[in-house]
Amino acid sequence: MQGYSEMESERSKTVTSFYNQSAIDVSAEKASIRLTLATLLYSGKSPDGHHVLSSAKYLHKELPVRIAHRIKGFRSLPFIIGCNPTILQVHELYIRAYHMLIDFPTIGDQEVEARFCKLVQALLDDHKDVVTMLAQGFRECRRHIQDEMILRNFLDTTLCSRLGIRMLATHHLTLHEENTDFVGMICRRLSPKKIVEKWVDFARRLCEHQYGNSPRVRINGHVAARFPFIPLPLDYILPELLKNAMRATMESHLDTPYNVPDVVVTIANNDTDFVIRISDRGGGIPHSIIEKVMDYHFSTAEESAQELSNNNLFNNITNSGNQSSPMHGFGFGLPTSRAYAEYLGGSLSLQSMQGIGTDVYLRLRHIDGKGESYRV
Ligand SMILES: Nc1ncnc2c1ncn2[C@@H]1O[C@H](COP(=O)(O)OP(=O)(O)OP(=O)(O)O)[C@@H](O)[C@H]1O
Ligand SMILES: [Mg+2]
Repeated sequence: MQGYSEMESERSKTVTSFYNQSAIDVSAEKASIRLTLATLLYSGKSPDGHHVLSSAKYLHKELPVRIAHRIKGFRSLPFIIGCNPTILQVHELYIRAYHMLIDFPTIGDQEVEARFCKLVQALLDDHKDVVTMLAQGFRECRRHIQDEMILRNFLDTTLCSRLGIRMLATHHLTLHEENTDFVGMICRRLSPKKIVEKWVDFARRLCEHQYGNSPRVRINGHVAARFPFIPLPLDYILPELLKNAMRATMESHLDTPYNVPDVVVTIANNDTDFVIRISDRGGGIPHSIIEKVMDYHFSTAEESAQELSNNNLFNNITNSGNQSSPMHGFGFGLPTSRAYAEYLGGSLSLQSMQGIGTDVYLRLRHIDGKGESYRV
């Protein structure tokens, strides 16, 4: 992570770049080259390591184009939104990343490639808080946004593009690691059950911290399934869905927090795709808000913070005044998860049985399945 003063001195450089933009304009005109995951999987590993060099060359060419497209997106935002300091800060991060990549020399040998990896890793670190920053920035200027679609399109595109960039970057960096189960970021034999279990443990810990207890989670269906897949997007989506299910369960059973219904996760695998269904008995999503839960920034976090602090049982464990918590916050969990699922050729859908509970279906296409392959 770079220091603040370094960021400040970079700033003068980047501010002029808002105007001095011919290189970015040229890159933004180029088409991005999206690869199928099967290409990434099967082009892996040559004994002399030339796959690493060609992967680096591809990234070095591709990343500035993708970043330039995003910069164009920032420039197209309505003036009052583009001027928000937090959004401007993200805009600057992209301009800075663009220049660092463009200024990097041609990658001809392993020594330069190693330096390129350092740069890519540093950029991944610098950009790690971008989703939170965008959530914050857009929340600050939401009242200026008349057309909800502007916000949704911008965030869907920016967040998915970011996921794609991070997947490609991580893939390249992990090509250097010796792990027989992985080709870059792709796990050859991913077990959906195992990855669900990992995030169940995580969500239960958060839940226990916040509510004093957490629902148990039963996993059924194709629990023995294993296939090639990328853990990265699941590592984002699964905790979000599990947190939502656990929060709803706990908040609909405030009187009996030590006796709450289980959450049930069902895995279904087939030649084309696989489905993970998360069923809770947390009362369902009321008719009055069901249309809104997929909107960016829609959250009932505020009311529930209120309710929780009114409830004596929870006075000790809630932070009154602080309305966002790791369990719920910006109202980004569902819309972001859906955007990611669709980007990967899948879908995220909800079925609410008002008064009983909610079923969330996460459907994702296999990397090398029968269906049409998608690109990252
Ligand atoms: N399983 C569920 N049962 C009942 N309500 C739900 C469920 N999942 C989501 N919701 C409702 O949808 C709203 C939006 O969910 P979302 O995950 O997008 O945001 P959040 O959980 O409030 O905040 P964040 O996920 O960004 O921390 C929630 O505030 C909640 O009211
Ligand atoms: Mg959530």
